[in-house]
Amino acid sequence: MDKKEELPLVLITHALPGEWLSSLEGKCRTLIGPAEGNRFPEELLDALQDTEGILALLVDKIDEPILKAAPKLRVVSNFAVGVDNVDIAACTRRGIPVGNTPGILTNATADLTLALMLAAARKLPQATRDARDGKWKSWAPAGWLGLELSGAVLGIVGMGKIGSAVARRAAGFGMSIVYTNLIPYPEIEVSLGARRVSLDELLAISDIVSLHVPLTDETRRMMDADAFLKMRPGAILVNVARGPVVDMDALYSALSHGTIAAAALDVTDPEPLPPDHPLYALPNCLIVPHIGSATDKTRSKMAEIACDNLLAGLRGAKLPFCVNPEVIA
Ligand code: DGY
Repeated sequence: MDKKEELPLVLITHALPGEWLSSLEGKCRTLIGPAEGNRFPEELLDALQDTEGILALLVDKIDEPILKAAPKLRVVSNFAVGVDNVDIAACTRRGIPVGNTPGILTNATADLTLALMLAAARKLPQATRDARDGKWKSWAPAGWLGLELSGAVLGIVGMGKIGSAVARRAAGFGMSIVYTNLIPYPEIEVSLGARRVSLDELLAISDIVSLHVPLTDETRRMMDADAFLKMRPGAILVNVARGPVVDMDALYSALSHGTIAAAALDVTDPEPLPPDHPLYALPNCLIVPHIGSATDKTRSKMAEIACDNLLAGLRGAKLPFCVNPEVIA
């Protein structure tokens, strides 16, 4: 057996730029899936039998059937901070550490949140569409009137790293901030005067509601028809968290009946949202294709951490960022 064959086999579920994977060279054999695809690629299934590491994207379900088919698996490295695509409990039962990429996508995602807030508040989707469609006849004193961020109330649902980075940016625009979180975030309260409130109060008083919670059993469909009814009629919903936190049918109904004024979504349910989905036809709904972390700097850093997590797992060492560190102990 030559030396190369002795190296552990790693599945990289979807093709990534070569330079992002350079740290793996000489340390493992890699089988790389297609450039695109919205699930664990079928062409890699046969190789699971010999696979010791998986570098997964957030579109890949790493669940019981995959784990069962991979008896030699020693590490799952998720190219994302969110790990709702991975059955963590099943990995933990098998002693498989799961890595993720926290911290580094905070700024990129917070920037996009502000971009979405501003775009929805100032009606950029309607305004660009109308300009292009010849509806810009003259300077219109009462046309495309939007919401000014200064003085508006921002409700941040989930005050973690990204939520607090959004709060800091929003304070710079003169917004006042309320938030929900399991525990208080004193730093944000002291420095920005943010106030921790119940979800009901947040929905009732916020001009913009911005979602920053992970997808869990508790947060799935948290924004349902009832929640939209609790929002202010002029309010805007921004979702950069996970699509299933919002009931998409209820959102469509809330937007088309004027229950809320607008929505700006980086994430949808399902993803991708099919091009014929009715939400695309609503002028008050802005949808971008899950680009919260899509900057060169952030995505290459995510790749670096994902590779570091993978290699640590293959060595049996502590992963730099692990969501179930108890398995190594
Ligand atoms: C993540 O890492 O969970 C993000 O959604 C990717 O943008």
